[in-house]
Amino acid sequence: MLPEVVKRSASLPSNTKILIFGGGFSGQHLANAARELGAEVLCSRRDATKKGADFAFDSTRKTIISEKVFSGVTHVISCVPPSKDGADPVLEQCGQIIKNMPLKWAGYLSTTGVYGDYQGDWVTEQSNVHPAQPRSIRRLACERKWESLGIPLQILRLPGIYGPGRSALEAIASQKNSMVNKPGQVFSRIHIDDIAGAIIHLINLFSKDICPKIINVADNLPATNIEVLSFAANLLNIPVPDIESFESASKKMSPMALSFWQENRKVSNHQLCNSLGYKLIHRDYREGLKDCLKSNKSI
Ligand SMILES: NC(=O)c1ccc[n+]([C@@H]2O[C@H](COP(=O)([O-])OP(=O)(O)OC[C@H]3O[C@@H](n4cnc5c(N)ncnc54)[C@H](OP(=O)(O)O)[C@@H]3O)[C@@H](O)[C@H]2O)c1
Repeated sequence: MLPEVVKRSASLPSNTKILIFGGGFSGQHLANAARELGAEVLCSRRDATKKGADFAFDSTRKTIISEKVFSGVTHVISCVPPSKDGADPVLEQCGQIIKNMPLKWAGYLSTTGVYGDYQGDWVTEQSNVHPAQPRSIRRLACERKWESLGIPLQILRLPGIYGPGRSALEAIASQKNSMVNKPGQVFSRIHIDDIAGAIIHLINLFSKDICPKIINVADNLPATNIEVLSFAANLLNIPVPDIESFESASKKMSPMALSFWQENRKVSNHQLCNSLGYKLIHRDYREGLKDCLKSNKSI
């Protein structure tokens, strides 16, 4: 919950102005937390009439962004995924402006998909990247474009994002998800409270010259789909769905859903939580889903 992120985070210096490209699920949550911690925050959405939009930015429509938006910005973060053609929507339009801004910090939200398949092994920030999925190849290319700007950048690699309104609770309540059994297959995940909390933690460390370039932001417990969905069903007091073999379930999956099952890795948060001292708000999916239930009364 947002109050927990705010309670656990150090406040931000009063002249902090954060520009968030892509005020979607994670971007909005970060914006709300950073404002509570004393920063001025401007958030983009593709349509300026959408909830939480402070300015419109849509790379496909080449929206003109007012100079006022960039004035006095100290921190920039992009939560916008690569375009289908592999371009970075933010850099395509605003790369030169961002490069020339006197930034204290810039962040790029990437994915752990860039590591590729590790057959169930742990991946750390030192692991080789060998993305196989086209979207992960595009993502790595975008990471590299951000790096090439030569700005004070950190790349945050995220596994599956969940939080109130977008979690296994909704998946199980909608009865669209079956419990797929693929022995040995696990997924890592991260709650949006810990995305916002970790970003604020990293911004504060960066100002003290503690600034690793790449950081995995994941919880402590990679888990199977069955473990997570059973826990969600029990929280909601509804029957646990039948288990289906991967062989059978995969025949009905979309190519996108199938692609997630083609890679298997556990994402290590050792650097974030040990070396950099970030304390997770939700250590695993059990704590995180209980929070989602408390926060989302409509489910
Ligand atoms: N979802 C996951 O499980 C997951 C896992 C790992 C990494 N990631 C990545 O982490 C980042 C944040 O994830 P999220 O789930 O918070 O994302 P999200 O809710 O889908 O938000 C994405 C944001 O990007 C904006 N956007 C998309 N295409 C754009 C374009 N062409 N021009 C301008 N803005 C554009 C969207 O605009 P609107 O607000 O108008 O929709 C939205 O604000 C994304 O890059 C995502 O791919 C996601």
